[in-house]
Amino acid sequence: MCGIVGYVGDQNACDIIIDGLKKLEYRGYDSSGIALYEKGELEIHKYKGRISNLEDAIADYNFKSTIGIGHTRWATHGEPSDLNAHPHVSMDKTIAVVHNGIVENFVELKEWLIKEHGIVFTSGTDTEVIAHLIQVCYKGDLTDAVFEAVDKMRGAYALGVVCSKEPDKLIAVRKDSPLVVGLGKGSNFIASDIPALLKHVREIYLIENNETVVLTKNKVTLYNAERQEVKREVFHVTWDADAAEKEGYDHFMLKEIHEQPKGILKTLTRRLGENNEINLDGITMTKDDIESFNKVYIVACGTAYHAGMVGKFIIEKLAKIPVEIDVASEFRYRDPFVDDKTLFIAVSQSGETLDTLAALREAKRKGARVLSIVNVVGSSVARESDDVFYTWAGPEIAVASTKAYTTQLMCMYLIALYMGKTKGCLPIEEYTRYLEELKEIPDKIKTILKQEKVIQNMAKELYKREQVFFIGRGADVGVSYEGSLKLKEISYINSFAIAAGELKHGTIALIEQDTLVIALATQDALFAKMLSNIQEVKARGAYVVGFAKENNKEMGRQANQVFYIPECMDEITPLLSVIPLQMLAYYIAKLRGCDIDKPKNLAKSVTVE
Ligand code: F6R
Repeated sequence: MCGIVGYVGDQNACDIIIDGLKKLEYRGYDSSGIALYEKGELEIHKYKGRISNLEDAIADYNFKSTIGIGHTRWATHGEPSDLNAHPHVSMDKTIAVVHNGIVENFVELKEWLIKEHGIVFTSGTDTEVIAHLIQVCYKGDLTDAVFEAVDKMRGAYALGVVCSKEPDKLIAVRKDSPLVVGLGKGSNFIASDIPALLKHVREIYLIENNETVVLTKNKVTLYNAERQEVKREVFHVTWDADAAEKEGYDHFMLKEIHEQPKGILKTLTRRLGENNEINLDGITMTKDDIESFNKVYIVACGTAYHAGMVGKFIIEKLAKIPVEIDVASEFRYRDPFVDDKTLFIAVSQSGETLDTLAALREAKRKGARVLSIVNVVGSSVARESDDVFYTWAGPEIAVASTKAYTTQLMCMYLIALYMGKTKGCLPIEEYTRYLEELKEIPDKIKTILKQEKVIQNMAKELYKREQVFFIGRGADVGVSYEGSLKLKEISYINSFAIAAGELKHGTIALIEQDTLVIALATQDALFAKMLSNIQEVKARGAYVVGFAKENNKEMGRQANQVFYIPECMDEITPLLSVIPLQMLAYYIAKLRGCDIDKPKNLAKSVTVE
């Protein structure tokens, strides 16, 4: 969940590292720090708070170093503080380490280092053990020392290591936490994610688990866990560097909300051949495989899980196969019923979420066929899956996921349609009707985005509320969960989502005079039922904001405020109804003065349990 950057070359390491860290700030932002080799020793600077604190503090130092490492942190062990910020240094001050992940056996290593080597610890982190461990393993060769230290460690880590005794060398290690290497001319880089490097390089090595990389300014060598040299194909990044910039929007979240028509269209057109054929290029799953599945499991976390809720609804309906959904952190520990007749769908924007990755491994171990829906090409989930359905959302920087969610939904529709058609349970006219409707979605989203002012005015009315309930039925249930998560994570309003029919079984006790209820009623087939649920909460004094399709004007008479989405098939409304909810969350958070792109306590990529 933290971000690491490292550089070795001819240029100013400090500028490159600070710039790279800023691109990774979405991964964690409670403290940051840098280690540079200056005038024969390691200079360490680290501060609690945002990277700007670090930048301001070192602004006048005028560092000239050409090698260094940096870190932006999301605390796991030890509170956010100057002391706990990375880099951590060995007791003799010769070795500095940045780390993303968790050292699971740090207590036992710490005790051993104290008892056997008289090490004095200064921070409350697990990472500090790594620096000391490398120091005690050091016998004149940093690479040897890192190998020996890593052998003693259990857990997940991406590490960057520099040593004042070998100032031309930067070492990186990866186990279960993301790591990429950027290949320049007379300059080489490490980072947790590609955007940190795009300003400088487009040629990348995607580092695999249990690999160690030794970088000097002119050479990059990769080793496997047995210390054999390994060769890696260069991955050429084709995205525009601007994709990771705000381009005039106040926040990445708003920019990403507006990018949805483009991302959805790309996700659809990449898979659509002539005559409305869905092409599964690069996917090895055959017709026989599809016919052999007797169950689908969709497993994910957070917003990606909410995409799975819609996926269950749509796959069961179109492909006539039972679908179970589960949050990854539960799935992995409850011995789920999975076998070689199970299609396991992992959904993840980052492709690095540790729980999702662990669930995927568990499903694979039990024989399931693994198909993943992933945004980041070459990420761990993508690499460990049998097949990957990429979302073409482009880099998502804001912590609150928006365009990843809607592109994940588009993948779900395509998978459901493909399976339904292949199994012969979806008539061709129906299949074609769905696809024609899906093709219209990007333009319909643009129509919704044009009504931003309406949502802004709604936000002005609602932003002081401290409690909200989202209700919906059918395909609207998953969207209610997503709308509620979006609002709570960026505005800190206590928000709760529930299937509208469930309200009366307990939660309605919380509805009183002026309680805000956001009612999603976009399903024609369930509209009358939703109106009854709205009546129930209004009878208890609720203030209702309704979302319905244009033709269901009755909503305007029942709700205190209403927002209409364009007409479309019931099953496809989630792609539309979530857009005003994202915008509402954004404008409410903005009016409350929240730090929208970096909400408190969160990080974009959750690589710890
Ligand atoms: C919320 C959000 C998170 C992520 C979750 C899974 O806006 O972004 O709930 O959806 O942490 O992340 P990925 O999709 O990267 O596996």
